[in-house]
Amino acid sequence: MSKQTEFLNTFAQAVSALALYPDGHKSREGAIDKVYGKMVDLAAEDDVPNFSFIGQDVVYSSIPIREMRGWDWAAKLSDAGIQRLEWNKRVSREETEGFLDELLDRLSLRPSDSRTARQEVERNIKYGEIGFKSGEKVEDGEVLTATLDFTLHEEAETVRWLHDELSSGRDLPIIEAESVVRALSVAMHGDQQMLLPLLSLKEFDQYTTTHCLNVSVLTMGLAEWLGLGAKDVRAFGVAGLMHDLGKVKIPTEVLNKKGKLDDNERAIMNAHPAEGARIILSTHDDLDLAAVVAYEHHIMIDGGGYPSLRYRRDCHQGSKLVHVCDVYDALRTNRPYRDAWPMEKVLGYMQEKAGTEFDKEVVEGFIHMMKVWEPRVAQVAEHEPLPS
Ligand SMILES: [Fe+2]
Ligand SMILES: [Fe+2]
Repeated sequence: MSKQTEFLNTFAQAVSALALYPDGHKSREGAIDKVYGKMVDLAAEDDVPNFSFIGQDVVYSSIPIREMRGWDWAAKLSDAGIQRLEWNKRVSREETEGFLDELLDRLSLRPSDSRTARQEVERNIKYGEIGFKSGEKVEDGEVLTATLDFTLHEEAETVRWLHDELSSGRDLPIIEAESVVRALSVAMHGDQQMLLPLLSLKEFDQYTTTHCLNVSVLTMGLAEWLGLGAKDVRAFGVAGLMHDLGKVKIPTEVLNKKGKLDDNERAIMNAHPAEGARIILSTHDDLDLAAVVAYEHHIMIDGGGYPSLRYRRDCHQGSKLVHVCDVYDALRTNRPYRDAWPMEKVLGYMQEKAGTEFDKEVVEGFIHMMKVWEPRVAQVAEHEPLPS
């Protein structure tokens, strides 16, 4: 078990102990000692250990802790307004006790008249809504708002590695792919308003990496905009991240060709949806949504596009969302054969194609979302911190 998991388990046990035993009881004091000990341990490794609790997920320093997914305390803490918790090396036992007491009050685990009156202001433990900036002075009772200091570098590195694994014929690393999506989701909800962090392309050969991350972010944004539940949003995010996996099989000279593709090259290119679906299904049979989306993301609503379907049928909702986000990101990016289009032009084009290339409701939702959230679209380079 990792130190982070040990801390969380100890912490949950302590909250229960504090709810049961009065001040001074040895079980209560022992539980506080244990939490304090684990906090000191983590602070010996990291300057500012920090956890985020988002829905069902627990994230430590921007990396989701997979084994704690679904931990019921994550949702309880998040509902109690504690979406982020951090401390530093100077944390004291007294502050730890103060924090646990305050938490108990917020969770209403004891009647309000028995609340302990606390004079101290916790300075070395900070907690609140996601995400206040570390290093800021926290005033007593202040509502904490700001943004996690976060770049997309690690996510881009993971996607590059994931594509390399596949190119070398190894299995699709699903845990890492899901971690990337979770981290993107954290970045998108780093402030009280939605943020759409989109990577700018610096080098042509990085297109697939930036494109997959951007499509994942846009798809999750659109899914949320259209009112889908958190589970679907995340599953669509995974599908968005994986939609072009089949491109790992395409030779780079075809993928990055400047001129028009010849028939043979076009056939290779157009095989990437089926290839992607095959890669996904061959390693993970529980990823059928991602496989379907990989297969369908170039199929138009009027039956055009590729691969061509023998019998006309409706594509999966996830494919319709990814298709829209895919085209948007592609047109907004400089490619070897054309410059990026301005946002207005892309949205105009998409509106024109509503009902023929794109599902009308989905594309109109997307256009509306981009207009409303335009100020929240953050175009960033890989090492650039996301704005607050
Ligand atoms: Fe594609
Ligand atoms: Fe794509």
